[in-house]
Amino acid sequence: MKILVINGPNLNFLGIREPEIYGNKTYADLCEFIENACAELCVECEIYQSNHEGAIVDKIQEAYGVFDGIVINPAAYTHTSVAILDAVKAVGIPTVEVHISNVDEREAFRHHSYIAAAAKARFIGLGFEGYRKAVEFLKNELK
Ligand code: DQA
Repeated sequence: MKILVINGPNLNFLGIREPEIYGNKTYADLCEFIENACAELCVECEIYQSNHEGAIVDKIQEAYGVFDGIVINPAAYTHTSVAILDAVKAVGIPTVEVHISNVDEREAFRHHSYIAAAAKARFIGLGFEGYRKAVEFLKNELK
């Protein structure tokens, strides 16, 4: 089973950006966490990060026929991107949405998620642990 983990804009600045919200751990720490979680769950994974909406759309399209599941934290594009929602719908790959912070308890503009319409599950406000839960969910779902 192969899972693609996609992280959107500014997540590469974890550890630097707003540590009071996102914590002190770096993006490299997040990648290590995801790799370890996938190894424990015997799931093959590729991790991708981009600050560009079109690049994320391209990556989702390239996943067609290659990956069994997608874990995505679209970051700010969560709240703006119909294009990323449409890409996930287009490929039809089971997708789970993750957010490190609790977007529902932050500014009102973070309460709406476009990707939620296509997500099989959402893990919000659990820090890095949300990614493990998302991979676990997909593993059970794809059994
Ligand atoms: C985020 C929440 C988004 O609102 C924000 O734009 C991000 C990160 C999170 O993981 O908590 O960049 O997706």
